[in-house]
Amino acid sequence: EKGGFRSFMDKEIHDQPHAVADTLLGRTDATGRLVLDEMRIDESVLRAVDKIVVVACGTAAYAGHVAKYAIEHWCRIPVEVELAHEFRYRDPVVNERTLVVAVSQSGETMDTLMAVRHAKEQGATTLAIVNTHGSTIPRESDAALYTHAGPEIAVASTKAFLAQITAAYLLGLYLAQLRGNKFADEIALVLDELREIPDKIQQVLDRAGRVREIARWMVDTQSVLFLGRHVGYPVAMEGALKLKELAYIHAEGFAAGELKHGPIALIEPGQPVFVVVPSPRGRDSLHSKIVSNIQEIRARGARTLVIAEEGDEAVRPFADEVFTVPQTSTLLAPLLTVVPLQIFACELATAKGLDVDQPRNLAKSVTVE
Ligand code: F6R
Repeated sequence: EKGGFRSFMDKEIHDQPHAVADTLLGRTDATGRLVLDEMRIDESVLRAVDKIVVVACGTAAYAGHVAKYAIEHWCRIPVEVELAHEFRYRDPVVNERTLVVAVSQSGETMDTLMAVRHAKEQGATTLAIVNTHGSTIPRESDAALYTHAGPEIAVASTKAFLAQITAAYLLGLYLAQLRGNKFADEIALVLDELREIPDKIQQVLDRAGRVREIARWMVDTQSVLFLGRHVGYPVAMEGALKLKELAYIHAEGFAAGELKHGPIALIEPGQPVFVVVPSPRGRDSLHSKIVSNIQEIRARGARTLVIAEEGDEAVRPFADEVFTVPQTSTLLAPLLTVVPLQIFACELATAKGLDVDQPRNLAKSVTVE
């Protein structure tokens, strides 16, 4: 049932082109307009929303961080992302005009469910982005937007993460369409670009040989840092989480801009640092800032492992290794840039002889608070 792969995780990483394609399937009508059939929330309610709060845990929360960047850019609605267990135990400002979006693979995470219940008590509208049909979170929410990643068996989330990000993009585009803002003309273009993503993920998988080789060389590594900016920041945090949970290696993800505010003190000769680089074709300032971050850590001896777009020559002089991903727009890039990091963690843990499908101390769905 592992389909010839060594582990479910390996298989699920390779299923990702399908997870994204299936999540995109059947979402437009004959005229190309987005229709989210499962969205049983009145359009007038969605038009009146003045704030979105994404609640989730772990990897699903990182999908929420990516959603924030995309939804704010496309819809001009403020989006907050909060760990579900923190949201529940403070006194969050939530009311009838708030859309609370719960993101969960299992649909059973107790922390996230309690956050949904709390939001409903405050009068908010609740929407679940969930992978598992018939689970509790979508049942208790006002509406559900299902991801179609298929069952995820490995404890560490991979294909569900990509499907969550895809669904969050669909939600953002749908809200932009509904509210008819100035971005509305570009929705079809983003959808076209999204439809090209599964092939591009396949290309990343096809060229993963080098990242696997590096991972196998790094079995004795004690600590790995991950840097990113903009949507690359949640990708960096996700890369670090995967490495912690699978390989039991100390790992931390930082916003690259924070480096000089503290973390750069951690850099000593030989320290491996993954850097997630945004497209040089996007906003220039973003790209050039991260190139200077790479130079700064390189100058202090870091071993720089760079994830960059094909054709990005500017990073090469400062990179010990470059793992390339196909070109796409800045906001959609996480669907590609996270894949080498998943493969890195999975391969390194496998090389250490660990069970990547069942990491120690973890359960697939956390149904206690
Ligand atoms: C990480 C991982 C966890 C889950 C988190 C939320 O690989 O699997 O961080 O993402 O426990 O689980 P769901 O999405 O089921 O609510």
